[in-house]
Amino acid sequence: MKNLEDFLSVIDKSLKDNTFVKMTLAKPTANGGDLKNIYLRPVEIKRQLKLACTHRYATRDEVKNLDIPTSLQTLEQRLTHDFLHADLFLISEQITFLWNKKKEITFVIKKNSTVLEPISTQHDRSKSRLLDAKQLYFNRLEITDLEGNVTKNGQKKFKQVNRYIEIIDDLLRENPLPIDAHIADMGCGKGLLTFALYDFLTVRKAMNPVVQGFELRAALTDASNELAQKCHFANLNFVTADILNFNSERLDMLIALHACDTATDIAIAKGIQSKAAIIMVAPCCHKQIRKAMNVQNELRPVLKHGILEERQAELITDGIRALLMEAHGYKTSVFEFIETEHTPKNVLIVGIRSRPNLEALKQVAAIKASFGIEKHFLETLI
Ligand SMILES: C[S@@+](CC[C@H](N)C(=O)[O-])C[C@H]1O[C@@H](n2cnc3c(N)ncnc32)[C@H](O)[C@@H]1O
Repeated sequence: MKNLEDFLSVIDKSLKDNTFVKMTLAKPTANGGDLKNIYLRPVEIKRQLKLACTHRYATRDEVKNLDIPTSLQTLEQRLTHDFLHADLFLISEQITFLWNKKKEITFVIKKNSTVLEPISTQHDRSKSRLLDAKQLYFNRLEITDLEGNVTKNGQKKFKQVNRYIEIIDDLLRENPLPIDAHIADMGCGKGLLTFALYDFLTVRKAMNPVVQGFELRAALTDASNELAQKCHFANLNFVTADILNFNSERLDMLIALHACDTATDIAIAKGIQSKAAIIMVAPCCHKQIRKAMNVQNELRPVLKHGILEERQAELITDGIRALLMEAHGYKTSVFEFIETEHTPKNVLIVGIRSRPNLEALKQVAAIKASFGIEKHFLETLI
């Protein structure tokens, strides 16, 4: 390899034969303004291979998804004028491209100590490969035995966490986050999902995220921090805190799996206030609205049956949550994320940051009036 053209051919070939893992442009020249780095990784969008290019400026990130010919043209421009250094990570080697002081291009090629996995961009990929059951945290969180086999008791949780990660994988293909995304898991309990998400993002997506789990119970966060160290998960940590006090300068994604009752509302409110790009919550119990409902219409005789009142309260609680998220700038979808046999608490509310829909506030008011509800707890927080 002698020149930029050779380097671009290697990049092109690695994208075609699926050996490209990721690439970083560094050492900006004066031409690039306040652009500090560009991070590139493959993504598949609407069945077309693209490169997600995260442009890191002094105070913000901008992600552009470029098709391959445009990416190569852009790289040619950037490496001619705007950056002096690029690292290309392939599955078996790392190639460093440098402009030296004599204004000559040099290359340094290093073999990787282990073969990296290419980032899967295929929709028909084997979903079961997203998480490796042999990872230490699965064993320490009592999902697998010492050989890394999922135990009988661990099967439901393993299936659930895999499904959750699959959904996140699909979401991130359509809505890529910056490579160093800041992510919070609210009410993380023992942290199984938090560990799995960090593992997935770092290993499968070649990202360098900062993932934090927030949990009231110190015994759990202490144990999780110890386990994160044992797993060498450097940017995964757990904080003992009431999520009500959460305050963050930067939050790209917020998740909450079965945070109890109104803790789900707090999680959603924190996501909205932090302007997180993605909010994803699986609600748990729905006590607040059940107590707040005072139905005086034709549904009253139906709701005298406890189970029907409970289901109605669930529907109203989560329906209003989604509408309030829409009113505050999120495009939402509500769906079952797993079969009820794995968990009856299987509804997921996903919000992708978009434009506010103020009509949703009128819809919330109408629903509240019809069910005699004074306030949904989420309204009191946002
Ligand atoms: C049902 S557990 C779910 C744990 C975990 N997300 C999972 O799915 O395995 C709910 C957790 O949320 C925590 N929690 C509830 N309210 C909280 C709050 N206000 N702040 C922080 N943690 C909270 C509880 O202590 C509990 O560990």
